[in-house]
Amino acid sequence: MPRRRVRFGIIGAGLMGREFAVASARWPALLDLDVAPEIVAVCDVDPAAFAWYRERFPSVALYTHDYRELLASDEVEAVYCAIPHNLHAQVYVDAIEAGKHLLGEKPFGIDLPAYERIMRAVRAHPEVLVRVSSEFPFYPGAQRIVQAVQQGRLGRIIEVRAGFLHSSDLDPNKPINWKRRADTNGEYGCMGDLGMHVVHLPARFGWLPKNVRALLSNIVPERPDQQGRMVPCDTWDNAILATEVEAEDQSFPMILETKRISPGETNTWYLEVMGTERSLAFSTKRPRTLRFLEYRPGGEQAWQSLDLGHESVYRTVTGGIFEFGFPDAILQMWAAFLDELAHGEEMIGGFRCATPQEAGVSHSLFTAALESHRTSAVVPVGAGG
Ligand SMILES: NC(=O)c1ccc[n+]([C@@H]2O[C@H](COP(=O)([O-])OP(=O)(O)OC[C@H]3O[C@@H](n4cnc5c(N)ncnc54)[C@H](O)[C@@H]3O)[C@@H](O)[C@H]2O)c1
Repeated sequence: MPRRRVRFGIIGAGLMGREFAVASARWPALLDLDVAPEIVAVCDVDPAAFAWYRERFPSVALYTHDYRELLASDEVEAVYCAIPHNLHAQVYVDAIEAGKHLLGEKPFGIDLPAYERIMRAVRAHPEVLVRVSSEFPFYPGAQRIVQAVQQGRLGRIIEVRAGFLHSSDLDPNKPINWKRRADTNGEYGCMGDLGMHVVHLPARFGWLPKNVRALLSNIVPERPDQQGRMVPCDTWDNAILATEVEAEDQSFPMILETKRISPGETNTWYLEVMGTERSLAFSTKRPRTLRFLEYRPGGEQAWQSLDLGHESVYRTVTGGIFEFGFPDAILQMWAAFLDELAHGEEMIGGFRCATPQEAGVSHSLFTAALESHRTSAVVPVGAGG
């Protein structure tokens, strides 16, 4: 299939930079897309980051320690920014003002003022496509929930629960890194790191929290640094947010949790929607399985489990009998970004990546959550982006 090539620069060549690079190399797995990324430039301040790319990506012509050099290159059409949160505002604004399409990592600004700074650039440059990285809604089970909500087949919503859970921080000897320091990760702590993943679909559905009562925990307040000295670990480990949603004609409770210390959990993303006529639940813990319950007044209540296999927004070579996993979700998210870049409103897939406005919902919520925890009060949530 003839394909339009979009020449990409990666700013931040760490964990997530490599995930995107690998997704671009898996592009032949996608069957119907007439657009593909090509990685032509890589930027990182750490010289050690380049060797992995040099060995695997001959298409990269520019390696630089200065992201401004990458943004100045006419060879670069679009950028993926996967850098520490304290750098988001400056680098994202510079990328947008340089006219580069941007997929920016969450939380999309270290705090609300940083987010608002990015939004001023977004609004000033409507010709640039700006989206936020959030891959879990591309899992087949999550997509089935999207379809059910959009078709309005739930009845009255009773309650929504969503979360993203990790556990490796249970180890008090795990060394500190930038994600566990407030100056680089942000005051939001685990909410900034994990929370956009949880807020993305509720925001897409228009389920906007009206207020929040937050419980935040700092369970491990010190960690060893690279030299083994104990230093402050001043970010929130866990957050439980009890919110009240007002959506169109109904209001309901929505419980959101983001936890770095949830014993036994490894990258568990889940969404549960309980309705009077239909309830649905999906967790990446059972990545191919959707659970649902259909109810008619007086009828029996039985949860059913449906194994969906490799059902994806964009068809791939992978057979439907196989299961779907994290790298597939990343590939599908990138397919959606490239699809929207090439086709705009006429995009083939129909499910766009998270928008900057949806990230705004998370910023308003997390800002209110900090105040709620500080004051032990229910705090109204601002309007968001
Ligand atoms: N979507 C997801 O599932 C997911 C998962 C993990 C992290 N993230 C997000 O991705 C972003 C990066 O996280 P990561 O896990 O890849 O971190 P990382 O530490 O593995 O990589 C970040 C890279 O940025 C580089 N860097 C720092 N300052 C820089 C600068 N001024 N210019 C260029 N490069 C610079 C670092 O040297 C490092 O290699 C964060 O916003 C994080 O929240 C998203």
